Amino acid sequence: MGKFILGVIVTVLVIVLGGLGFAMLGFIPTNANVAPPHLERRIANGAVDASMERHAPHVTNPLPPNDQNFEDGMKLYTMNCAVCHGGLDRKPASLSKSFYPPAPNLVSDPPDDPEWHVFYTIRTGVRYTGMPSWEKTLSEQDMWKITSLLSHMEKLPPAVQDYWKTSFGVAAPSGEESK
Ligand code: HEC
Repeated sequence: MGKFILGVIVTVLVIVLGGLGFAMLGFIPTNANVAPPHLERRIANGAVDASMERHAPHVTNPLPPNDQNFEDGMKLYTMNCAVCHGGLDRKPASLSKSFYPPAPNLVSDPPDDPEWHVFYTIRTGVRYTGMPSWEKTLSEQDMWKITSLLSHMEKLPPAVQDYWKTSFGVAAPSGEESK
């Protein structure tokens, strides 16, 4: 029994020290200019979703989804998010592919997660990626306004779609194109 436990301890030590050595001898790449392998993406995305499910409060959006809030959301998105996630004018983000993992285009492919999930992502950011936490920069209200916009991107009321067209020169997403 004593020998067995010693064996387990030695094995664990070898794995931990081996992992540390692997890292400290420089074998873990740090470059962000490549796309993550498929398997790594699947595991990382699964872990992020599970962690949000466990940590994020399942709160409802306190703001009504009205025209004013959507239009405020569009301004806030343009000022803070478009550089990484793509503009409302449908131009691709200049920085999108410069991150590991890349920043998804939220205009052509808006998140289909519940609002509490989107809000938590914005408020707390995503560790080990280029996604910042916005809680020190934006007010709670402003983060909810952007959440409203992202969650209703493909079903905005007609007046807001008109506002989009006049402000950005292109039609608002209808949901048809991403199907
Ligand atoms: C400096 C670049 C950068 C900025 C600015 C930025 N993001 Fe991100 N964002 C990222 C990256 C990179 C990811 C991908 C993280 C991942 O794959 O887990 C991401 C992920 C997200 C996601 C999750 C998308 C998904 O597929 O589930 C949401 C939602 C999001 N960002 C919203 C925003 C909002 C809203 C803003 C503006 C307030 C913003 N981001 C600003 C880089 C950025």
